[in-house]
Amino acid sequence: MTHYTLPKARNFEHQISGKNTHLITLENSRGMAVALSDYGARIVSLLVPDKHGNPTDVVLGFDSIKGYLAADEQYHGVTVGRFANRIANGRFTIDGETFYIEPNNGPNALHGGANGFHSRIWDRRIVYKEKADFYYVAADGEEGFPGKLSVMVKYRLTDNNELIISYRAQTDKPTVINLTNHAYFNLNGEGNGDIHNHILQIQAANYLPVDEHQIPTGVPAPVENTPFDFRTPKLIGQDIMQPDDQLIKGNGGYDHNYILDTEALAKKRPVATVRSPVTGINLEVLTTEPGLQFYTGNFLTGKDKGKRGNPYEKHGAFCLETQHFPDSPNQLDFPTTLLLPGHVFESQTIYRFSVVK
Ligand code: BGC
Repeated sequence: MTHYTLPKARNFEHQISGKNTHLITLENSRGMAVALSDYGARIVSLLVPDKHGNPTDVVLGFDSIKGYLAADEQYHGVTVGRFANRIANGRFTIDGETFYIEPNNGPNALHGGANGFHSRIWDRRIVYKEKADFYYVAADGEEGFPGKLSVMVKYRLTDNNELIISYRAQTDKPTVINLTNHAYFNLNGEGNGDIHNHILQIQAANYLPVDEHQIPTGVPAPVENTPFDFRTPKLIGQDIMQPDDQLIKGNGGYDHNYILDTEALAKKRPVATVRSPVTGINLEVLTTEPGLQFYTGNFLTGKDKGKRGNPYEKHGAFCLETQHFPDSPNQLDFPTTLLLPGHVFESQTIYRFSVVK
């Protein structure tokens, strides 16, 4: 039996750009524990009891801040912003003025630019046994985005084994915003091979096909009769290797935004459910966001060795990133991602864990 523990707090005490970093731990009365770092306001570990009651770490990551700094993959567990996902050619226009984010993903700006929120040291505000708040102020012009943006990310761990992530932001100039969390989950336990045996359901009849640069073409497509259909629970591995043009564009796997069914959203029901037949761990995702990026770690290479020294290979994890649609600033048919002064951006996502025997 694998014995999973939280990383040592002292391995996260460091200085980055003159700011101290820490490990923050949350615990509930049901045996769940979460480790967070102010470096990227990120999830480091998520210990969840499996079907035998043994704590299992279900997110990829490293056991020290140095591991994160040296990692090939920059987005483990992070808060992504100011604009999660891709902006075509790093360009968009607000009120006739064009803004430019230096491309860091082929021709696109990905996840708020090279030095997005994931790379910043956030201030800790309130830290209790079951909650931690992180705060960051992005300067006007930071990474090319207009407006000074104050952002709050709150993590709450409930006794119902839910990790609730709430976002709140305000700007002093019109800007664009799209925030998400980039946890890489493996419900078999981090570093335990691929996620093909996981059973996934997504409440979405349509998704957004992409072009060769992974920018949505703008025309939603029905999932019906495609590998993208997860309306009834299906093995992630069932169709992932198919020679499907969209799976190929995702670098050999899923890396696409689902348009969540409005009924599931309106009724506050889970928009996605995933289960590991090995551990029995079941994850439900609830959100206020209209989209869900389902990503199967197609760009993981095995170079990064995780918390227990195991390589993080392609398909070694899945991400369910709740968000607005990619490239929204350039796609006027998509729900707007514009945030104006005097308005408050609010969004919430819940990762709820249970065991299905
Ligand atoms: C994107 C992937 C990208 C990854 C980076 C995901 O949100 O959809 O294409 O490689 O983030 O970690």
